Amino acid sequence: MTPVLELKDAAVRYRGTAADVVADVSLAVEAGESLALVGESGAGKTTLLRLLLGLARPTAGAVRFDGAGLNPRDREQMRRFRRSVQCVFQDPYSSLDPSRRVGAIVAEPLRSLGLDSRSTAAPKVAAALERVGLQADAVDRYPHEFSGGQRQRIAIARATVCDPRVLLADEPVSALDVTTRVKVVDLLAELKQERGLTLVMVSHDLSVVASLCERTAVLERGRIVEQGATSQVLGEPGHPYTRRLIESVPRLPV
Ligand SMILES: Nc1ncnc2c1ncn2[C@@H]1O[C@H](COP(=O)(O)OP(=O)(O)OP(=O)(O)O)[C@@H](O)[C@H]1O
Ligand SMILES: [Mg+2]
Repeated sequence: MTPVLELKDAAVRYRGTAADVVADVSLAVEAGESLALVGESGAGKTTLLRLLLGLARPTAGAVRFDGAGLNPRDREQMRRFRRSVQCVFQDPYSSLDPSRRVGAIVAEPLRSLGLDSRSTAAPKVAAALERVGLQADAVDRYPHEFSGGQRQRIAIARATVCDPRVLLADEPVSALDVTTRVKVVDLLAELKQERGLTLVMVSHDLSVVASLCERTAVLERGRIVEQGATSQVLGEPGHPYTRRLIESVPRLPV
């Protein structure tokens, strides 16, 4: 099967940085599969998601979507890409436009993809908000009127309103309290199961990774040191860095 998204020997060097921030990264995500990217802060996880989203260009290697090189100048391909791949960013405070009402924010993918008018978008927006457990009256309110966890749910509603094939999520639950976290994890699991959603997720929370993602890639200073089935990678880690990462998970004293 052709992977939906693929990185082949990809490297990124930001303007002004002396060395590659990520290098030699190869990974592939098949339809319906979930992949977790784990690693310490600064390892390059967000950079990889930016590559997969076409927001960063590889300085070496390639990014492929449905088997073809991702080319921002190919309008037809970019349209298909935007219809298929949506994302939830790390920071629920900066990722929502503060001057727009939630209804308009969540409808944005439907409008910008030309799928819906204001009136035909409304029921889809209401359904997306309901799925993430927000009240219907949220549409008339502004992002600042919501808590961090609620904003993250608004971001998930926006990302799923157009029924994407792939969701790229950067720490989608780390800003949430434990109860809300469980609800959002359940929601993502449901979207996977019922809609066959493909998920690429960055998370520091290895229990979230274990419950949502069949595959895990471990990133250390911009390089993948280990990848494979999550049960294998987290259960019987082969690389010392992965073992350290697992051991560093805080445990409640018993
Ligand atoms: N726009 C940028 N310009 C220059 N360097 C950058 C830029 N964005 C990120 N970096 C650097 O790239 C490296 C990887 O950053 P990245 O944001 O991908 O890490 P991360 O794994 O997502 O970390 P965290 O878990 O803290 O979110 C870091 O050393 C960071 O300083
Ligand atoms: Mg990050």
